[in-house]
Amino acid sequence: MSRFSDGSAGDANYAVIGEGYAKIRQPDPRIAAAILDALGDARTVLNVGAGAGSYEPTDREVTAVEPSASMRAQRPPHLTRAIDGTSDHLPFADNAFDAAMASVTVHQWPELEKGLGEMRRVTSGPVAILTIDPAPPVHWWLMDYAPEFFEVEGRRMPRLERIADALGGDTDIRTVPVPVDSTDGFAQAFFGRPERLLEPEVRRATSAWSFIGGEAVTRFENRLREDLASGAWDHAHGNLRTTPSFDVGMRLVVSR
Ligand SMILES: C[S@@+](CC[C@H](N)C(=O)[O-])C[C@H]1O[C@@H](n2cnc3c(N)ncnc32)[C@H](O)[C@@H]1O
Repeated sequence: MSRFSDGSAGDANYAVIGEGYAKIRQPDPRIAAAILDALGDARTVLNVGAGAGSYEPTDREVTAVEPSASMRAQRPPHLTRAIDGTSDHLPFADNAFDAAMASVTVHQWPELEKGLGEMRRVTSGPVAILTIDPAPPVHWWLMDYAPEFFEVEGRRMPRLERIADALGGDTDIRTVPVPVDSTDGFAQAFFGRPERLLEPEVRRATSAWSFIGGEAVTRFENRLREDLASGAWDHAHGNLRTTPSFDVGMRLVVSR
């Protein structure tokens, strides 16, 4: 597996886009609740592609694996130090953990089946994968303003059935609605707060933007800025500002 200068082992280089990630991508308690529920009463939990530690339970014994030094450095002091490792080879014995989790990372792995097979091998209980459906359930405004974003994500995000098949066992796919005030600022979480997507710092915290050409990003910014200034965005989509939660395709694939 090839790695970037800071150890990043997926398709995105966190040496470049990792700066400020933890500030924008604070775990959201309502999304966290779905993951905690899937982990059940596990005492030991493995988190793969752990990043800055989002969604890691604080009342269990957690082992975190994260290849990027830039991301490991953003872990808050109350969380365990992350091990430098990658999904394709988890340095643990079979069934070493009661449960395992991976949040919004599998789309970056070079060998999906190998990584998920490793997670299944080292876990005796539930394995929970938080991801985004490459085929979003509804058409919404960002798809018109930034079609390139969805083209990129459509190629990167694995089909949910592929994840379930790779994990095997008794699997189910759970819908995770995204709250309008989500503290986890991935791009789709701003469905009701469009202004935030005009901030370069916010865009940098969702890796898909790093695969989109500058011209397309400028086109997106200009159109959104104009439509917000003229009121056209609010006229067409303003109801989303007060919609409590929205299904942007976030899913939790759980294997037991
Ligand atoms: C979008 S971030 C998610 C981080 C964290 N799980 C979260 O929910 O905020 C994706 C993470 O996956 C990690 N990653 C990418 N490829 C990986 C691989 N092959 N093995 C393990 N982690 C990987 C990246 O370094 C990055 O920290």
